[in-house]
Amino acid sequence: MDQNEEIKSRLDIVEIIREYIPLKPAGINFRAPCPFHREKTPSFMVSPEKQIWHCFGCGKGGDVFSFVMEIEGIGFGEALRNLAPKAGVTLQRQDPKISSQRNRIMDIMEEAANYYHRALFAEKSAEGVRKYLSSRGLTKETLENWRVGYSPDSWDDLLKFLRSRGYSENEIFLAGLCTKSQNSSRFYNRFRDRIMFPISDINGAVVALTARVRPEKEAEEKMGKYVNSPSTVIYDKSRIIFGLDKAKMAIKSEDLAIMVEGQMDVITAHQSGFKNVVASSGTALTEDQIKLIKRYINNIALAFDMDKAGQMAADRGIREAMRAEMNIKVVMMPNGKDPDECIKNNPKEWVEAVAKARPIMEYYFDKVFAGLNLEEVQDKRKAAKEILPIIMKLGNKIEQGFWLRKLSEKIEIDENLLRETISAQAKSETGPQKRQPEKEEPKIRQSREEMLSELLLALAIKFPGLLAYAISHIQDDQISGLLNKSFYKNLIIYYNEINNRQEADPNSAINYNNLKSWLEGSFSGEKAELSQAEKINRNQLKLLDRLVLLGDKDFYELDSEGAKREIAKISLILKKNYLMRRMREIEKTIGDYEEKGEGEKAGELLGELKMLSDEIREMGE
Ligand code: UTP
Ligand code: MN
Repeated sequence: MDQNEEIKSRLDIVEIIREYIPLKPAGINFRAPCPFHREKTPSFMVSPEKQIWHCFGCGKGGDVFSFVMEIEGIGFGEALRNLAPKAGVTLQRQDPKISSQRNRIMDIMEEAANYYHRALFAEKSAEGVRKYLSSRGLTKETLENWRVGYSPDSWDDLLKFLRSRGYSENEIFLAGLCTKSQNSSRFYNRFRDRIMFPISDINGAVVALTARVRPEKEAEEKMGKYVNSPSTVIYDKSRIIFGLDKAKMAIKSEDLAIMVEGQMDVITAHQSGFKNVVASSGTALTEDQIKLIKRYINNIALAFDMDKAGQMAADRGIREAMRAEMNIKVVMMPNGKDPDECIKNNPKEWVEAVAKARPIMEYYFDKVFAGLNLEEVQDKRKAAKEILPIIMKLGNKIEQGFWLRKLSEKIEIDENLLRETISAQAKSETGPQKRQPEKEEPKIRQSREEMLSELLLALAIKFPGLLAYAISHIQDDQISGLLNKSFYKNLIIYYNEINNRQEADPNSAINYNNLKSWLEGSFSGEKAELSQAEKINRNQLKLLDRLVLLGDKDFYELDSEGAKREIAKISLILKKNYLMRRMREIEKTIGDYEEKGEGEKAGELLGELKMLSDEIREMGE
């Protein structure tokens, strides 16, 4: 067994997927709303027995690796690194030369974070920093959990250390840990004499660092209070949420993510037991950050500085969140305190503030109306001008209607008038350029016949004992959909092969695993270039997974007798449709011949036409 197989065999796909989304039992399988597209009714299914997943809404599917790759937005290698520890498998260390640059940089960041963390306790010069951190209430355990560190006041200590571990200056530079001096082109440490906070990805791997000025230097610091890692191959700050790796479980169990600004706020909150707190790290919320949170839940509370909160309406992230129908609330911090201070002074106050968080629209209303005199017409106009664009952003029509009515009541302007204003604005906003295509709600358009064909195949897979029955009832060209058709052809070939082997019980040899390896046998591994036939086979493997889950989903309670009736029924419809289509084709050809005066040829076809219509009549209604 290779490593991938071993990891897979030791993991339960249901458990892994449950870390991301709540799965509900559905027969022998599990289901949930799909994390990869927007939907109201759950069409995402997971089979514990087959260890596969599939979404009947957007068509995505695969195994545990492909799920983690898809949801984390990572490649296969990273998914492997993510899942190996969960499976209790130690990945064989790759030769450093072969290991990708990305992996090397991840290793460098890990080493650097540990180096700084050790220095916090070992360095004499960190004495003041240690005192400061403890004066801010952080315990030793917390410092360890978050790997808080200290970068000594040196131009090259980290560089030397990392060089001694086998990394080149260039790699250390690419990791963002050193900068190049302009005149001498020498490298030197980016972080010097600062308090270090590692920034981790969702799996807890360090991807960046943020470095706070030490308190003694706060007044004179020219570089700013915080110095951050630059963007690197492993760090895109718009895609990282500080603390999410540690908060994700609590976010799910509390069904709420609380977003604060600073990492100090996050760390204090967690230490005090509020583990669903994360930070945007000072920047405006981005769309990607929202997507990251939406994987877990729909509810966000923003505990931001109130001046900034006022501008949030303009943030892309917030707009996106509104459009994605997330519930966004705003936590009003008592007397404008930091969450950090508030929690430390009086955790109860924090709990209350969170409990009293108000829907963001309500908050906007108050903010806008605070400075207005509604007796004045121009103030009414002002209110409408500020609030309407925000209402327009709401993804949910009902909610939109609700706030529109509220606005109309408040400023005593007819709702319809406001609606007209909205549509006028929408037109001028989208203008001549096209609206962004809606990616959210993919639809797989299937004809009824394709759907029926798929159901028929699903039945044949779920009830292998009925495969012979199906084969005798319907021919491959009567199956609708190219992929369905070629899959069915393969089923027939497979069935015949098994029967030729004259095993004692051919039916028991026809099962998911055998069929899967039989299909897999026709192409090998991860080749870059696939032949056309191999591509088709790969799609067939995907279809197989889809069919397995479809069978479980739609025919969960069916017994073999029922399945037989179902197969008969579906084949009849498909066959009839097929014959009708043939008839129409022939009628058209006859017409063409007659037009060209080739009555003889037309006559030959009439016989066939009659046969077809007889056949259809025999099938009955
Ligand atoms: P704050 O100034 O609120 O910092 O900035 P803080 O985390 O509360 O730190 P303390 O309490 O003063 O020790 C909020 C966040 O904005 C980012 C940092 O991520 C910080 O945590 N920031 C702030 C910067 O990136 N650069 C800066 O110069 C300042
Ligand atoms: Mn602070």
